[in-house]
Amino acid sequence: MTAKWNLLLRKQSSSECQWLGRSNARRRLLPSSVWASQKHLVGSCKEQNDELEKRGFRLLSARSPAPPPFPRALIGGQPPSLRAWPRLPRAAARPSNLPNTASAMQQPAELARPRAPDHTVSLNTGAPLPLLGLGTFRLRDEETLRLSLDAALGSGYRLVDTAAVYGNEAALGRALGELLPRHGLARGDVFLTSKLSPRDQGEGPARAACLRSLQELGCDYLDLCLIHWPGTQGRPQEDEGNRECRRLSWQALERLHEAGKLRAIGVSNYTVRHLQELLAHCRVVPAVLQVEFHPELAQSALLDFCRQKGIHLQAYSSLGAGHLVGRPEVTEVARRRGRTPAQVLLRWALQQGVSVIPKSACPARVAENAQLWDWELSPADMELLGGMDCGRRYCWDPSEVA
Ligand SMILES: NC(=O)c1ccc[n+]([C@@H]2O[C@H](COP(=O)([O-])OP(=O)(O)OC[C@H]3O[C@@H](n4cnc5c(N)ncnc54)[C@H](OP(=O)(O)O)[C@@H]3O)[C@@H](O)[C@H]2O)c1
Repeated sequence: MTAKWNLLLRKQSSSECQWLGRSNARRRLLPSSVWASQKHLVGSCKEQNDELEKRGFRLLSARSPAPPPFPRALIGGQPPSLRAWPRLPRAAARPSNLPNTASAMQQPAELARPRAPDHTVSLNTGAPLPLLGLGTFRLRDEETLRLSLDAALGSGYRLVDTAAVYGNEAALGRALGELLPRHGLARGDVFLTSKLSPRDQGEGPARAACLRSLQELGCDYLDLCLIHWPGTQGRPQEDEGNRECRRLSWQALERLHEAGKLRAIGVSNYTVRHLQELLAHCRVVPAVLQVEFHPELAQSALLDFCRQKGIHLQAYSSLGAGHLVGRPEVTEVARRRGRTPAQVLLRWALQQGVSVIPKSACPARVAENAQLWDWELSPADMELLGGMDCGRRYCWDPSEVA
């Protein structure tokens, strides 16, 4: 049977990714022989891939035309790089009495089983980033961290966000070593993010700090490493020296990326100005920008900029660090949808193609925050929440950092 699949293509000249369906766009790009059948679209046919390459495109992925649960729900059109992985059978969970081991963390991704069904976005590296992750800021107590992570893995989270400054990398490494096998998972099944501390800016310190994070976490590579903050600890925000420090840090990250230690690299708390400066000198375009993002801080200019440049925007403090769950607009939408306020806030970001990393020390809330996939906010809900934008921050403001 001839199946017409959608293609995720990347222009070879840029990091921009593009889904092409049965649209005129695809007809314009490719002769019908290229897209007419499934076998021509999944990379098995060299001739057809050559055809794509001749036209300046690289095939990153193909998916069936069945409407995927998440991108279908996007308001205002589907961002080009979103994709839902095909449903794969889950591996049976391993018995909990298996030896608990750091080797689970050091297992090369190639040896890991196929990815669990999840909801991901394609980074400009071509790698999938899960749209839902567990935040771990302030999860310092090892047992609390372990319980949250256990609930997260059991509820389908496949991304964990930490940072050197959170002081929990070693505890997280131990918890992952214990819990991944219990959930029938391997290192390659989870996407692990850490961040370079502002105290470690500069080429040598940044390299040493990234290697230290790997050691603390007990793993061979990070899926993503972010420069946590555009400034350097100990320098005034307006100090021009901040620019040079973060430029040197980026070079260190680029080298570790090229060495395969950091599968993707990105930045956090950068403004459009900081990103423009980085894009002017970088060899590797950042894959991710992680910033505070919620209905009271909708950051539309920053989001547009990232979309244009093929940089994925990841939200932190989606719940306004807990302050937004009681806002009347949020509770009203939650009532209409029969969902909780936290779910509404997370879904608001997802429907804009923005991934989320909510934190909770409470396993029941961790599970609640994962119920995001089989429902959607209506345009009227999005509009009501969009009206809350007032530029309020619950974390720090990077706009004064030179
Ligand atoms: N790059 C950066 O500079 C940066 C800055 C801040 C955060 N982050 C990352 O982003 C993650 C998330 O941000 P965040 O921790 O600031 O804030 P958040 O996820 O917006 O909110 C966390 C707060 O909301 C509460 N909460 C969680 N789920 C809830 C629910 N279902 N109902 C009601 N309350 C709920 C939590 O309380 P309980 O724990 O008591 O449940 C906690 O107080 C962090 O953990 C960290 O990984 C990055």
